[in-house]
Parts: sequence; structure tokens; C-alpha cells
Amino acid sequence: MTAPAVRASGLVKRYGDFTAVAGLDLEIGRGEFFGLLGPNGAGKSTSIHMLSSLVQPSAGAASVCGIDTRVDPVAVRQRIGLVFQDSALDRQLSVWENLRFSGLLYDLPLDETRERAEHLIRLFGLEEKRDKPVGSLSGGQRRALDIARGVLHRPEVLFLDEPTIGLDLPSRRRIWRFIGQLRAETGMTVLLTTHYLEEAADCDRVAFIRAGRIVLSGEPAALVGDLGDEIVEVSADQPETVRAELEAVLGPASVEFETLSFRPPQHDPARLAALTESLGARIRSVVVRRPNLNDVFLWVNQ
Ligand SMILES: Nc1ncnc2c1ncn2[C@@H]1O[C@H](COP(=O)(O)OP(=O)(O)OP(=O)(O)O)[C@@H](O)[C@H]1O
Ligand SMILES: [Mg+2]
Repeated sequence: MTAPAVRASGLVKRYGDFTAVAGLDLEIGRGEFFGLLGPNGAGKSTSIHMLSSLVQPSAGAASVCGIDTRVDPVAVRQRIGLVFQDSALDRQLSVWENLRFSGLLYDLPLDETRERAEHLIRLFGLEEKRDKPVGSLSGGQRRALDIARGVLHRPEVLFLDEPTIGLDLPSRRRIWRFIGQLRAETGMTVLLTTHYLEEAADCDRVAFIRAGRIVLSGEPAALVGDLGDEIVEVSADQPETVRAELEAVLGPASVEFETLSFRPPQHDPARLAALTESLGARIRSVVVRRPNLNDVFLWVNQ
């Protein structure tokens, strides 16, 4: 039987008294597109660093394609591609030089590096920047180059730590189209972290982590489906003053700033209309809509 692409068992990372990752158990199949989601500081990057052999776990074990990260980190690094949350490019070197350097690290023959690099440079529209120092690129161009660098050696497993942060919508779409094609062509496994949950909706499976622990995991559509058919959002200047009255009808609220979010036990527009009328000017707006992955995130973090 082929080993899973990524496996973690009881993975822990402590920094002094602080536990950043508190026992991560994970199994990602070959070719799977997996999303690790969670708020800032949840332990996503730390988990990726341990899974990719760059950070030593305090306890537990991790493997990539059956290779233990502690036993043979070099073999692990040959099989993976890494796009870090913080750019790993050399700003003094040009676009082409960065790619060539990466090719050297992975022992790619120069003509193959050149061929793949030119293809990636074209694909990401970086032709005019080919010989310019990376320091002169825009944030989005740098991110595209980071991704090109991460896939140049055609890794079996690609770790993408917030690959599209700060990018405009066309750039994000271009990157996802590219990753999708690469997955289809090569069967590459992808482990993604992102705060853009619309992107995570395309994952085969996602896991939500909080304070270093997985608190919920599954297929995105199933997790969204578990929330019910509709979400009711009520905004008010002082949400706490109307909360109890709304909860009596709509069930427990989840509060974010001036918005109360509900998963009503049943679809009852007449009752909702009567309720909002009775609250009058104390509320600002009411929205009824289908749930999405952002709602899963909101409810899991309550
Ligand atoms: N080298 C370190 N020394 C001490 N604490 C650290 C170190 N690296 C990370 N941490 C802490 O571990 C926790 C998890 O950090 P991590 O970077 O894994 O979070 P994250 O989920 O990637 O967050 P974000 O969404 O902001 O990128 C944070 O509280 C962070 O401050
Ligand atoms: Mg991070």
C-alpha cells in the first residue's frame, strides 16, 4: 500500500512554556487538495514547518510519502515544494537568477531549469521582469515568483502557506488555475493554508485548527451542509441589547462586531418578519442567506 502523502501523529511544538501546536493528527492522501484553516496564531505555519522537516517537533512524528521527517529530512525536502508565508526569494537576484538558484538546489540540469523557468515566467506574465532584481517587483509579482520557485522542481507534495495573501482577484484566479492544472497533470498533493475561505471551498478536505488543535475537519460542502439551510444575520448598533429577544426565536447567536449571526432551527419567514418588526429601529438590517465556509469558521471559533 502506498504511504499517504503527508502524515502527522501527535505532532507537538512548544516554545518554552508556550504550546504552538498541541498534538496534530493528520493524514493526507496522494493527490489530495487539503486546507488547514484557522485564525491568526492557530499554529498553521508551525505545523507546515514541522511537516516539511524545517522545524523539529517537540513530540510526535511526521512523514512525507512515507519518509520520516526526522530520519531523512533531505529526502523529504527533495519531494516537497514550499511557498512560505514570508517570501523566500533573494531580493538582490533577478527573477531568472532566483529560479536558476532553485534549480541548482534541486540538481536540475540547466537546460531543464531554463525551459521550465521560461514557461513559468510567461505563465505569470513576468517576461519584462525576467532580468530585474526581485526587490523591484510588486508584491503580487513576487508572490507569483515565490510560487514558480516552489513548483520548479515538480514536487510530489506542495505546501502553500497563504499563497494568495494580498493579491488582487485576477492574480488569485491565475494562481489557482495554474495550481489546478498542475494537480491535474502531475497528481501533486497540495496542503494549503489560507484566510480566504472561498479558496478553501475547492479543497477536497479541510481541517480547522485553533490553539494548535484540530477542532473540526471534513469535506467543505459537508461542513457547510451541517450548518443547516440558512444563516440569518442581524446588525444593530448595540447588538447585546437585542440579543436575548432574537435568541429566543432564532437560537444561540454568534457575535462578530455589530452583527449577530444565527442558525435558525427552521425556515419561518413570517415569524422572522414579526420579530424584526417588533425590534423596529433597534436593529439596522436583517439578511437571510445560504451558509458558506466563512460561517463554519465563525461557528467553530465561538
Ligand atoms: N519561533 C517562535 N518562537 C516563539 N513562538 C512562536 C514561534 N513561532 C511561532 N510562535 C507562536 O506560535 C503560535 C502559532 O504560530 P503560527 O505562525 O504557526 O500561526 P499561524 O496559524 O500560521 O498564524 P497566521 O494565520 O497569523 O499566519 C503563535 O502564537 C506564535 O506567536
Ligand atoms: Mg502562518
